[in-house]
Amino acid sequence: MLEIINLNKTFGMGESSIHVLTDFNMTVEQGERVAIVGQSGAGKSTLLQIIGGLDSADSGIINFKNENIFDKKGKELDRYRNREVGFVFQFHYLLDDFTALENVMMPAMIAGEDTAENREYAKSLLARFGLSDREIHFPSQLSGGEQQRTALARALMNRPSMILADEPTGSLDKKNSEEVLSMFDSLKNDGITVLIVTHDDEIAKSCDRIVKMEKA
Ligand SMILES: Nc1ncnc2c1ncn2[C@@H]1O[C@H](COP(=O)(O)OP(=O)(O)O)[C@@H](O)[C@H]1O
Ligand SMILES: [Mg+2]
Repeated sequence: MLEIINLNKTFGMGESSIHVLTDFNMTVEQGERVAIVGQSGAGKSTLLQIIGGLDSADSGIINFKNENIFDKKGKELDRYRNREVGFVFQFHYLLDDFTALENVMMPAMIAGEDTAENREYAKSLLARFGLSDREIHFPSQLSGGEQQRTALARALMNRPSMILADEPTGSLDKKNSEEVLSMFDSLKNDGITVLIVTHDDEIAKSCDRIVKMEKA
């Protein structure tokens, strides 16, 4: 489903430039769960941003469902970002002034689809992650683990085929990490492809495969 071919990414110019990705290659099957590990600065976040269509590359190809995402522009690129990919970050980036349910609904609202059906789906996602009684709570009223579970529910709202998670448990204690991890485990049943950047051996071991990135 995902085929990355000779991806190159440099930040800066001239002598001070940093080559973050050098002819990077990776293939991921539909429904596969891949852990991406490597020391800080290895380019893990940069890679996820590029795969998610949030950053550009200098050269290379990323075929997603047999289409090079670098050929996508305008509405087509928006569609890819909003419909195919769901992002979960280390810090949840929930919107403080919106309830948990509204935050989960946000991707649908942005797509102009604030429908009763989508509202029910958002509620079902919160229920699935044990947050039914938190629908009308604001992010500041939720624990770190609850915030991150809400962020995962939001990432699933538009029924993406791929979740990109950048250190999703990086700011959580052990108990909350385990809870969030079990939510990621449950995605297996949906056939959703998951790329997860992590420093946590437990998470890495729970994945189908581990890709190690080296610092350039
Ligand atoms: N926007 C940017 N501008 C300049 N350098 C950047 C930028 N983003 C990342 N870098 C550099 O690229 C390298 C890889 O960063 P990153 O992808 O965040 O690594 P990781 O997530 O593996 O820790 C680091 O040296 C970082 O400083
Ligand atoms: Mg990073």
